[in-house]
Amino acid sequence: MRVIKIFDTTLRDGEQAPGCSMNLGEKIEVAKRLEKLGVDIMEAGFPASGTGDLESVKAISLAVKECTVAALCRCLEKDIDAGREALGKAASPRIHVFLATSPVHMEHKLRMTEGQVLQQAVDSVKYAKKFCNDVEFSAEDAFRSDPDFICRVFSEVIRAGALTVNFPDTVGYAMPDEFAQRVRYVKEHTPGIEKALLSVHCHNDLGLAVANSIAAVASGADQVECTVNGIGERAGNASLEEIVMSLQVRRDHFNAATRIDTTQIYSISRMVAQVTGVKLQPNKAIVGDNAFAHEAGIHQHGVLANRETYEIMTPQSIGIVQNQIILGKHSGRHAFEERLKDLGLTAESGAFEKIFADFKDLADKKKNVSDRDIEALVMDNTVSVPETWKLDHWTVNTGSALGASGVVRLQHKEGRFEKVACLGDGPLDSLFKAINKIIDRQPELELYELGAITGGSSSQGETMVKIALNGRRWNGRGVSTDVIESSIKAYLSAVNAMLYEIEQKDK
Ligand code: KIV
Ligand code: ZN
Repeated sequence: MRVIKIFDTTLRDGEQAPGCSMNLGEKIEVAKRLEKLGVDIMEAGFPASGTGDLESVKAISLAVKECTVAALCRCLEKDIDAGREALGKAASPRIHVFLATSPVHMEHKLRMTEGQVLQQAVDSVKYAKKFCNDVEFSAEDAFRSDPDFICRVFSEVIRAGALTVNFPDTVGYAMPDEFAQRVRYVKEHTPGIEKALLSVHCHNDLGLAVANSIAAVASGADQVECTVNGIGERAGNASLEEIVMSLQVRRDHFNAATRIDTTQIYSISRMVAQVTGVKLQPNKAIVGDNAFAHEAGIHQHGVLANRETYEIMTPQSIGIVQNQIILGKHSGRHAFEERLKDLGLTAESGAFEKIFADFKDLADKKKNVSDRDIEALVMDNTVSVPETWKLDHWTVNTGSALGASGVVRLQHKEGRFEKVACLGDGPLDSLFKAINKIIDRQPELELYELGAITGGSSSQGETMVKIALNGRRWNGRGVSTDVIESSIKAYLSAVNAMLYEIEQKDK
């Protein structure tokens, strides 16, 4: 059976999409989960992009040891130098260089001829090769490029030392049969292709990124580039979970496997949705809330008689655990620890005590603590930057006649307290204004979303916010049984991410 490499680009192509940005702490947590998931390569960022990626690729290179860490670079020496610096501590580094090869990109974006593109691609691979044995070359917009030119470029970059050549459908234009044919053509007409791995990278503009990726696997592609939940530019990239489960469920058809531990899929999908604030549609394949729900009576009857009537894979195969034991205020440390394990969640020993204490607090307020509640507690305690300000207490008075007045008291990391009262257009407006006064900055609130973690009136409120200042954006998330408190926590966590980044820059 062939083994297909999974190249995850959630932290690069995914993260660069509008609204998907993650802070450094979140990127490291996602990287650790990707490692646990078993991806072969994770693309950790674009170090020369000037958006903090140099630091995050460095940090991920230190945190991850079980898989290759890739850095994306344009075919420019300064980019490759940044990639080399960022990957300095990686156990298994890969420099990934790219250059566009389609007529429209060469003429209007690069203003270069075919000959110049070929030369720059070869020179860059040679340059990268001086520092890193594992070099990948991507022909951006390959699908809209002349196939014979692609074969020539691939052949030359392989001669220059590229160990992987990547064939992207950058604008999501291909149809699955055409894409499969093109991949076969490249395999058959590129001299020296047997010395390299052939990769594909599909975007989802026509909703065909996964179909094109797996059609390419059937045509001989050795590596697939994808992102968790399919996040990425415009309509996104090919979704990792859909590709992996397609290959797994239809092993009979593809005679190919991946090294992914599929039982980690559900938890990483939820984590990426939470840190990016990009929610999944309920009917999203594999990981949507309804992916294993059976509503129609006839379906329920069939599933009760035998799950295989309407299920082609089990929820357990992607890591959804249906627990019979309900956790509540009488549950002890051992039961809680076991549930974390079942959910594929890990807490560093220091964090465990705090998460367990939060669980006990929650169990006092809420009769049954659901698995979703537990995921939220773990997220709250593991994915955060150091807090500049902590919420001490808040009060709000609101009504239909006089508007709202809110008071917030925060504690600074150096110990002092600040308390401010503000009037506002509603309770949240008054409280957020009070926080802005304390921090002496006015970020813009670009997104505010309030949801319930589970159903029912005792559910915890989960708030996601995005704030922006001077063109930079930060996400925040807060959970509480009180929706106003979850909103303050979310706003404050975005504010802390912003202040941390500003502080790091000023150092
Ligand atoms: O879509 C694309 O072509 C890319 C390349 C940089 C691989 O993301
Ligand atoms: Zn891409």
